[in-house]
Amino acid sequence: MHIETNASLKAYNTFGLNAKCKYLIKIHSTDSLQELIQSKLYKENPHLILGGGSNVLFTKDFNGIVIINELSGIEKTSENDETVNINAAAGENWHQFVLHCIENNWAGIENLSLIPGTVGAAPMQNIGAYGVEVKDVITKVNAINLETGEMEQFSNDECRFGYRTSIFKTSHKNKYFITSVDFTLSKKPHFNTSYGAIRQKLDEMGVKELSLKAVSDAVIAIRTEKLPNPEEIGNAGSFFKNPTVSQETFARLKKNFPDIPNYPQPDNKVKLAAGWLIEQCGWKGKTFDGYGVHKNQALVLVNYSLENGQPIYDLSEKIIESVQNKFGITLEREVNVY
Ligand code: EPU
Repeated sequence: MHIETNASLKAYNTFGLNAKCKYLIKIHSTDSLQELIQSKLYKENPHLILGGGSNVLFTKDFNGIVIINELSGIEKTSENDETVNINAAAGENWHQFVLHCIENNWAGIENLSLIPGTVGAAPMQNIGAYGVEVKDVITKVNAINLETGEMEQFSNDECRFGYRTSIFKTSHKNKYFITSVDFTLSKKPHFNTSYGAIRQKLDEMGVKELSLKAVSDAVIAIRTEKLPNPEEIGNAGSFFKNPTVSQETFARLKKNFPDIPNYPQPDNKVKLAAGWLIEQCGWKGKTFDGYGVHKNQALVLVNYSLENGQPIYDLSEKIIESVQNKFGITLEREVNVY
């Protein structure tokens, strides 16, 4: 097991922040993880597990062990006429995994193209885009309990998936090391183009016959237009969650802001677009010294040149305060702050 000391995390977070950690350890096999968790070093230091680092903001150095999940491998475990079961290791790159499924004509995650991060990070915050959430296709999450060293399996229900959340982001946070995820994908695609922008993009692209590749290409085109590429501009996708409010609150807001985008939910609540709320407060495209709010999507905070994320955190506080003052709604962060 190779241990790097006083290592930079710059390459391991999509904000591109230069936080340091005391020890950096890359895990390529479950055996080396077992070895690590038995060690004195592990027992004496706090730990943090990173996949692609696409949902973290570092405001300071991490005074402990950062564990990078680099487990790899994708395997078809079973199939029938309709579906195929795939087991993918947690360290696999998410978008490469999506492309692999599309090439094999396995349907279900094409709408989730180009989301940064790893396979193992996907269930943690139940990634979602364009009308699909990863919980729709996950059958099992396999993980090592970091206290006992035992391998445990979590069924879809046991993961307690919700909007951008799961048990791995709440009660089990930092207590499990996800090793792989089991997916059930479909051999016969059920295209989900209900999200307006996808239909429009497919038309623009002149697509006559839908295919997994065409839907994926449309999603890639939309994301590329709206969202900054983390390889060029540091960011962690949506910084905040879209808030849900009661019918009463929505009625009050609609009276004052007739154009407010809104998405009625099955539980009778109404989901609002945080990006719209933030834009209305005048933040969209605002640039400060090395960081700011993205010009095409106000929900995305960007890092142009900061080494430390504290100013981005402070900006997020100001945004929360102004949305609170104007709309009476408290935004919640989607990213994990350290
Ligand atoms: N809007 C604005 N101004 C903005 C941004 C958005 O007015 O600056 C409006 C749009 O015009 C639209 C509405 O807000 O009416 C929704 O915008 P959009 O379709 O871009 O989606 P979103 O709600 O901002 C969510 C997810 C994204 C996901 C997209 C597409 C969250 C927090 N974000 O964004 O996920 O890609 O829908 O499905 O749920 C992520 O979680 O990191 C992420 C990128």
